[in-house]
Amino acid sequence: MPRTPDYFNGKTIVITGAASGIGRATALIFAREGANVVCADVNEDGVKDTAEKVNEIGSQSLALSIDVTSRAAVNNMIELTLNGFGRVDFLFNSAGAAIRRSKFLEIDDELIEKTFDLNFKGTFYAMQAVLPHMLKNKAGVIVNVASMAVKRGGPNTSVHYAAAKGAVNSMTLGVAREFAKDGIRCLSISPGPINTAFAKAAASSPELIKRFLEDIPMGRFGEPEEIGELVLFMCSDACKFMTADTVYVNGGGGWR
Ligand SMILES: NC(=O)c1ccc[n+]([C@@H]2O[C@H](COP(=O)([O-])OP(=O)(O)OC[C@H]3O[C@@H](n4cnc5c(N)ncnc54)[C@H](O)[C@@H]3O)[C@@H](O)[C@H]2O)c1
Repeated sequence: MPRTPDYFNGKTIVITGAASGIGRATALIFAREGANVVCADVNEDGVKDTAEKVNEIGSQSLALSIDVTSRAAVNNMIELTLNGFGRVDFLFNSAGAAIRRSKFLEIDDELIEKTFDLNFKGTFYAMQAVLPHMLKNKAGVIVNVASMAVKRGGPNTSVHYAAAKGAVNSMTLGVAREFAKDGIRCLSISPGPINTAFAKAAASSPELIKRFLEDIPMGRFGEPEEIGELVLFMCSDACKFMTADTVYVNGGGGWR
């Protein structure tokens, strides 16, 4: 929670991947705190739905149907935010996916390119689009999403995804350090299994769910709201010395 109770009131966050899962949960948490929420996602219906829920809570929203793998679309997302709300205080890059599962030797050019385009380049484009504005304001917090997969490497199913998320964490570190003196912080979150469409696709059979759960000492998946509350903390004024690192959120597990 913020140190200052009304800290988020009237501030603006841009959230990619806001149609579903962690992005949507985070949108609703920021709405609860009175922030303007820009909901961006390739899923047009989903993003409209999130934006409506933000309004129902009593905050202002903007629904943008965009594909984060297009630099032009991402630039437009920041421009429309500035036209609508005048400033961007926070950026949360949640759009991401493993695209499909594959053994390492079967990862082809198309899969590796699509995985990096979505998970790495989408985040890269959004940071490049927002940073000039944050530099002008001498303020801003960017939160990216990696994965526990960066610690495991994704053997047998998702080395492509783990590598792309590892690149997100390295980029987060570099950007945080490059702009640390400019009032800008940049962090990432590396979640273990969280109850969303993404995790349902990965844990696709009762045996796989059992294997996932055996690996988590808390014996359950995380909830998307548990990640959203961490995004809120990271963006708040509660611990302004925090930058550059990733935070693992995993119920104590995911190290297999
Ligand atoms: N759920 C988990 O277990 C888990 C674990 C580790 C990391 N993650 C990461 O968390 C983030 C959020 O995932 P989630 O669990 O909420 O899954 P989700 O599938 O519920 O949400 C992902 C959202 O990203 C959007 N998206 C996909 N491609 C896009 C594109 N090209 N442009 C714009 N939006 C696009 C989807 O439409 C969807 O709304 C992802 O980066 C994912 O890799 C999830």
